[in-house]
Amino acid sequence: MIGKQVTNLLNKQINAEIWSAYLYLSMSLDATFKNLNGVANWFRVQWQEELEHAKILQEYMNSQDAKVELQPIKEVPNTWASVLEMFKDALEHEMEVTCRIHEIAMLAQKEYDYATFSRMQWFIDEQVEEEQLCKDLIHLYKMSSDNHALQYQLDKDLAKRKYKMSEHLHAEHWIS
Ligand code: FEO
Repeated sequence: MIGKQVTNLLNKQINAEIWSAYLYLSMSLDATFKNLNGVANWFRVQWQEELEHAKILQEYMNSQDAKVELQPIKEVPNTWASVLEMFKDALEHEMEVTCRIHEIAMLAQKEYDYATFSRMQWFIDEQVEEEQLCKDLIHLYKMSSDNHALQYQLDKDLAKRKYKMSEHLHAEHWIS
């Protein structure tokens, strides 16, 4: 049984995940417009992963008979000065998401809601991975700032990223 406060935070988290998806879709479209097809692909995969995070939370709430209530999605920026700025914004955003996840885990533990506490462990691990990915890419783009050949190669590498559905999603419920 999920309490009112945790339900409220989970609904806010679904909104934050959908907003993340919207942000990364915007980054992907900005990169496409600038012919940075690898970066566009990387953020397109990120967009899919964020929708997946929202879906995992929805499925979890459904399984616990907690009411999912969708909230308005805030607008997102439409353009970035450079790829480096995109990844810096992505990292900043992911750090905020991490704080929100920790808040849910802490409240769930306080309320003896061990099911939600356990569900949050996956998200906590996922956040470590997402922050690390952004940090690595920030480092690579900083190192290659004056080297167009290296940036070209980086873009080609980012084009290889592929979306893979999480095992935590029920495929039969997923509409792609
Ligand atoms: Fe779903 Fe990138 O946090």
